[in-house]
Amino acid sequence: MKRKLKILALFDAIAPTTLDQDLSAELRTEDWKSEANVLQALGELGHTADHLAIFDDLDLLRQKLQSFGPDLIFNLADQFKNNRAFDQNIASFLEMQGLPFTGCGSTGLTLCKHKGISKKILGYHRIHTPVFVTIARGKRVARPRRLGFPILVKPLKEEASYGIAQASFVENDEQFKERVQFIHEKYDSDVIAEEYIEGRELYVSILGNHRLQVLPIRELVFREVPPDEPKIATYKAKWDEDYRKRWGLQNQFAEGLDPALAGRIEQTCKRIYRLLTIDGYARLDLRLTPAKEVYFIEANPNPILAGDEDFAQSALQANIPYPRLIDRIVRLGLTSARD
Ligand SMILES: Nc1ncnc2c1ncn2[C@@H]1O[C@H](COP(=O)(O)OP(=O)(O)O)[C@@H](O)[C@H]1O
Ligand SMILES: [Mg+2]
Repeated sequence: MKRKLKILALFDAIAPTTLDQDLSAELRTEDWKSEANVLQALGELGHTADHLAIFDDLDLLRQKLQSFGPDLIFNLADQFKNNRAFDQNIASFLEMQGLPFTGCGSTGLTLCKHKGISKKILGYHRIHTPVFVTIARGKRVARPRRLGFPILVKPLKEEASYGIAQASFVENDEQFKERVQFIHEKYDSDVIAEEYIEGRELYVSILGNHRLQVLPIRELVFREVPPDEPKIATYKAKWDEDYRKRWGLQNQFAEGLDPALAGRIEQTCKRIYRLLTIDGYARLDLRLTPAKEVYFIEANPNPILAGDEDFAQSALQANIPYPRLIDRIVRLGLTSARD
């Protein structure tokens, strides 16, 4: 395998772009930290890296592939035309070009993005998942009796806690109906409503295609949230620093998991990763109940790669410093044989 590669880092953009657009201002902002960190690491690794951001014009990408001729695409494009459900279509396009790319293929992205389909597959294989219903836009809003309160109402295919607030936690039919309608109308999104699973919030990062490496487990702790209050990684809980300070929210390594339990979590996560046909790298969101049951909440293929986020922090703890992590992801992209 060649040691030095030509790599095209592919980004998404929130407005139309051009082939040689200067992105240096964007790359200095907080929002583009993953992109900047990856580009810098590719440089440090000695690869020849170029980059392109696309909004909705695939022809730009075709032109860039022709002029630059990359060995691999480092795929950081997780939306298209401002739609985060289109990440799978970008991967499909790359698959049709026959070019290797990093991260997850289109099937894995499709299964994971749909929070109902992923849970059906895992439920079939007896992995604990919350009881749920999906409610499409335009359908009558009714709660089936088997879905007991409290319930968490979420957009069916979103990321990064978009549409998730304290009001997503509902305890009666009136609140349920109101929140479902709110997600239908304000987010123009179908809904998944799940039984709320009480417990510790764990994030498990995994690297690999066939042979999988589970990295040290992270946890979001809610230090200042009173014990009887719901503990949810809402949009504010993820992205609003003042809010995080006020409620004592902190991402840290999970403490005090006994080795047998940690081993069980690792095995469950490897099964989930394979069942959902994930490649490359992913972070799984879990809940660990007081009875030590492990519940699947969500799989995030191609999780955020910024150096200070959970995935890179877990890798560092496993003695994989950032540039080496990026190189591992590159090599996995080159050797992936996707379903
Ligand atoms: N069924 C559930 N029970 C308990 N908490 C949940 C449940 N579903 C989601 N959450 C909380 O909401 C957060 C965001 O939900 P998730 O499905 O991971 O959405 P996103 O894709 O936006 O990250 C989770 O990290 C967790 O804190
Ligand atoms: Mg999540």
